[in-house]
Amino acid sequence: MKKLIGAVERLFPMPCPLVVGGTMEQADTLAVAWINVVASTPPTIAMGLRESRHTLELIRTNHSFTVNIPRADMADVVDYCGLATGRKTDKFAATGLTLTPSSLIDTPIIAECPYNIECRVTSETQVGAYVLVLGEIVEVHAEQAILRDPDGDVIDIEALDPLCYIAGSREYRRLGERVATAFEAGKRFMDDTD
Ligand SMILES: Cc1cc2nc3c(=O)[nH]c(=O)nc-3n(C[C@H](O)[C@H](O)[C@H](O)COP(=O)(O)O)c2cc1C
Repeated sequence: MKKLIGAVERLFPMPCPLVVGGTMEQADTLAVAWINVVASTPPTIAMGLRESRHTLELIRTNHSFTVNIPRADMADVVDYCGLATGRKTDKFAATGLTLTPSSLIDTPIIAECPYNIECRVTSETQVGAYVLVLGEIVEVHAEQAILRDPDGDVIDIEALDPLCYIAGSREYRRLGERVATAFEAGKRFMDDTD
């Protein structure tokens, strides 16, 4: 038996990065759960932001943003950045989060987040009270300690321990154990026609 629960805007799990807009001189950050990679050529991130967000103003001024992945133990800091607005308060001063320069764009990254993505805005589309912002990934920073191989680009997900958001029950969680290998586990259903 399945119950119809209506047109709820929920997928499970959701990422919950801190998105930064602005510059080293004037920046703001907010928690964003409606965000993901949507293309790989060119590498593109899309996110849904409510028109009223202060960080969106800064993103529009500088045509860039950074996506900063927090560890699960940063849930309280992320939640604060998703409750307070930069119009009234300096979230970096309030939380102790620190900004460091990006390599290719003017918008900084958050030092305390172990994985950071630099994006240049490529377009935006209105979706009711929201704006869908698309940004091309131009560079990625990964702390040495979260790399599986010091010379590679593959992340040790347990070392990263990324914060996840569960919509509906409004919980922050961490990821569970590995269950299978992607692009491999499904091969047992393939035959000569696939
Ligand atoms: C878990 C969580 C997820 C959120 N996801 C989004 C989102 O995807 N889009 C959005 O516009 N606001 C989202 N918010 C709300 C903003 O982070 C919040 O309104 C923030 O205070 C805006 O800050 P600003 O005005 O300084 O930019 C989320 C908040 C929380 C706590």
